Amino acid sequence: MNEVYHIPAMLKETIEGLNIKPEGVYVDVTFGGGGHSRAILGNLGHLGHLYSLDQDADALINAIDDPRWTFVHSNFRYLRNWLDYYGVTAIDGLLADLGVSFHHFDCPERGFSFRFPAPLDMRMNQTAKRTAADIVNTYSEEDLARIFYLYGELNSGRAIAKNLCRARSQKAILRTEDLVAASRIPAERSKELARLFQALRIEVNDELGALRDMLVAARDLLAPGGRIAILTYHSLEDRLVKNFLRSGNLKGTIEKDFYGNILTPFTLIEKGREASPEEVALNPRARSAKLRIAEKK
Ligand SMILES: C[S@@+](CC[C@H](N)C(=O)[O-])C[C@H]1O[C@@H](n2cnc3c(N)ncnc32)[C@H](O)[C@@H]1O
Repeated sequence: MNEVYHIPAMLKETIEGLNIKPEGVYVDVTFGGGGHSRAILGNLGHLGHLYSLDQDADALINAIDDPRWTFVHSNFRYLRNWLDYYGVTAIDGLLADLGVSFHHFDCPERGFSFRFPAPLDMRMNQTAKRTAADIVNTYSEEDLARIFYLYGELNSGRAIAKNLCRARSQKAILRTEDLVAASRIPAERSKELARLFQALRIEVNDELGALRDMLVAARDLLAPGGRIAILTYHSLEDRLVKNFLRSGNLKGTIEKDFYGNILTPFTLIEKGREASPEEVALNPRARSAKLRIAEKK
């Protein structure tokens, strides 16, 4: 394969921030090209272990030949069940590098990119039932407008939803190029097209639902002193992670004890660090990454 599967963002900062214990048990819930996983293994001693999850079986082409490494082909929302299965009751650190890999964007037939004509798919888990075409052709106009506004931050979400519903009443929208044409977003407004595709991708893969489930499992599994490092790529997931790490709960409610002391299971270590200009120059896709790290008390 000639394609670069992925270039990990903020690799050094993430690995340093995990403060890896050589004999510890670690989880990389987003294996992808395995860049972060390899670096974690590089910091583990012979008694340490790393579990890496990915819901996309394509990631297995990057498998690591190492007895300290276990790959789990699964959505990370089932993290707790899988660690139970392997007899792991506590972990020393967890990394989540959210979203899609370069491989997803650069592999035309997966349908993640408006740059290539392809079936309108966008499933990270290729065995999942629902594709982007299913959503575009069956959701109500209101629901489409909602996801475009919420997940794509598209102020024009209502107009786009209307255009899609008009187009699909004539002919089903089954391919990326059909979606581009039906949206009526001019080709030169590529940022808007990218946001439209992002919004659909988030809905297809229930990215925020999976993230919520994983955060709660990670909080409960982390041993005292264990660290969670999360790389986010858009404001909605970043806000969710930020509020969760501040409060320790999904509502983001800060609870206080009788004396007014804040009750939270985490100490914040990194509060939204961004990639350096040097890294962005080498890897422009790191531009939107934000790193948040917390330590379990
Ligand atoms: C940004 S890439 C990770 C890249 C990786 N850190 C590296 O160094 O190559 C995200 C990966 O996570 C996977 N992924 C995204 N959401 C997931 C989920 N809910 N469960 C499991 N894997 C997921 C994607 O399939 C993709 O391979």
